[in-house]
Amino acid sequence: MESPIKTTEQIETLKGLLTPIVKREPGPVLLCLQAVQTQYGYIPDGAVAVIAEVCNVTRADVHGVFSYYSDLKKTPPPVISVRLCAAEACQAVGGRALAAAWGEVCAADPDLAAATGTNEPVFCLGNCALGPAALVNEQLIGNANVETLKSAVTAAQNAAETAL
Ligand code: FES
Repeated sequence: MESPIKTTEQIETLKGLLTPIVKREPGPVLLCLQAVQTQYGYIPDGAVAVIAEVCNVTRADVHGVFSYYSDLKKTPPPVISVRLCAAEACQAVGGRALAAAWGEVCAADPDLAAATGTNEPVFCLGNCALGPAALVNEQLIGNANVETLKSAVTAAQNAAETAL
C-alpha cells in the first residue's frame, strides 16, 4: 500500500494537523503519533519525519516513542477489528480456547482472515462477568464463541457496505 504521506501537499496537510498540537502541548511526540493514527488508522511511512520536524526532535526520538507503544500501528488496520480478551477472568472461562478456535477459523477462511486481520488481544474489557469477552470493531460481545464472533463480523461487514 502506498503511503498517504508522500507529496508536498500531503506533508503540508499533516503539518497542519500536527502544528496546533505542538503549540498547545509540551512534549507532543506521542500526541502527534496518536493524531496521525486517528487520522489514517496507522502511522504511515513519512509521518515519522514530519512529526520529527514539527516537534523539533530527531527521527530516532519519534521512532523510539513509536516503537514503544504497541497500540501505534505500522500497517493499516483490518476492515473489521476482532479483539479477544486475554485477561485472567476471561481465561478462566475459556478465553484461550476461544482465541485458538478463532485462529483456526481464520486459518481455514482466507476471506475472513483478510477482513479481520490478526487478533490483537486486549486485557480486560470490563465485561468479566460475561466472559469470554471480545470486541468486534467497537461492539462488545459477551459470552463470546466462534459463532457469535462470526455473526458480529458479518453484521459489521453489512453495516460497512450499507454505509457506502
Ligand atoms: S477479564 Fe475479560 S473482560 Fe475482564
